[in-house]
Amino acid sequence: MKNNFLMLLNRFFSERSFALRTKVLVYSLALIITLAIALLIRQGPFNDSETRLILYLFHVLIFASTFVCGLAPGIIIATISTITAISSLGKNWFQLSQMTFHEAEVFPFIALYYLVAITVDWFREHIEKLERQLAEIEELHERTRQMEKLALAGQIALGIAHEIRNPITVVHGYLQVLAQKQPELEESYGLMLDELMRANQIISDFLSFSRPRQLQKVPLQLNQVLESSVSLIAGKAVRSNIAIKTDLAYDLPILLLDHSQMMQVFLNLFNNAIQAMPAGGTLAVSTEFAPEQNVVRIKIKDDGSGITPEVLQQIFDPFFTTKDQGTGLGLSITQTIVAAHGGQIEAESKVNEGTQFTITLPLPAAEAELQV
Ligand SMILES: Nc1ncnc2c1ncn2[C@@H]1O[C@H](COP(=O)(O)OP(=O)(O)OP(=O)(O)O)[C@@H](O)[C@H]1O
Ligand SMILES: [Mg+2]
Repeated sequence: MKNNFLMLLNRFFSERSFALRTKVLVYSLALIITLAIALLIRQGPFNDSETRLILYLFHVLIFASTFVCGLAPGIIIATISTITAISSLGKNWFQLSQMTFHEAEVFPFIALYYLVAITVDWFREHIEKLERQLAEIEELHERTRQMEKLALAGQIALGIAHEIRNPITVVHGYLQVLAQKQPELEESYGLMLDELMRANQIISDFLSFSRPRQLQKVPLQLNQVLESSVSLIAGKAVRSNIAIKTDLAYDLPILLLDHSQMMQVFLNLFNNAIQAMPAGGTLAVSTEFAPEQNVVRIKIKDDGSGITPEVLQQIFDPFFTTKDQGTGLGLSITQTIVAAHGGQIEAESKVNEGTQFTITLPLPAAEAELQV
């Protein structure tokens, strides 16, 4: 009930920037003064200059109530003022011919009452619109400043990420040497090497996502790229009790590929598969040539946890992850690299049965391209 009354009051006063209390106060004052003058004039008599002063005073009241409270209150005060002005003549205002020049002056006054209300309302509305636009511009400026700061922080992070890779590579190299010298500590060294590879992978993902590198495509035998990727995760697979089965087609045509980026694609998929099989399992990697469609297909299949249909819809989204330590960039980057090669990647999965990723890569358009 109270809320309804407040809503009605707000609507009556229009959406002005003044507080409701101020509007009620100003309007009540204007209304009281206008009505008081109206009563006074009826009791008259007033001489010409007094009447004129009163008629001017109405302008001030109309101006104040329209400016603070809006058009409707302004028009109400203007109407009371009009009635008062006419009754101050004390005669039938249709009989214009009987009016003196001074009496007829009341009509321009009345016209001005309404003009004041309408004009003040129009200006007020436009001033408020300008104020809102200025506030929006100010907010946009602030957001741009924030974006600039973020971009700078991103640049710095990129620089740091790039620099961290060098010490990682050096430590990785020395660890490999030590692992060969101390075969009895193979497991510990293996774990350290895996962790370093993980750190390196996170940095690579971050760098590829923020600064996608131009592809450097060269004619390559896809099976070789796959085999070198497999060999990189072979140790990890053994430690995770995972058997790797490869079934590579011998008749694959030569493709135009960026070697390191395609390796990144396969490593992302292998790592996901290994992570999906914490209790061990089988990672199957196969290739086939489909001459009818002029494409080569690579299938990477695990018999791990599988993916629910809801999660499956989001796995290629950047930063989407279901893992505590995941960045969620792996598949997004993988998809970008495959698309940059003109190919596609698809996933099929069944919960508790496993997941299969299929990459389809086109053959080079013309034999000539292979001479690049
Ligand atoms: N083989 C798979 N089996 C089960 N779920 C998978 C598999 N591959 C991807 N997923 C799901 O897709 C999500 C996104 O994978 P993505 O590789 O992009 O990121 P991530 O592995 O979580 O993190 P990271 O950036 O470290 O790779 C994973 O969190 C996981 O839920
Ligand atoms: Mg991943």
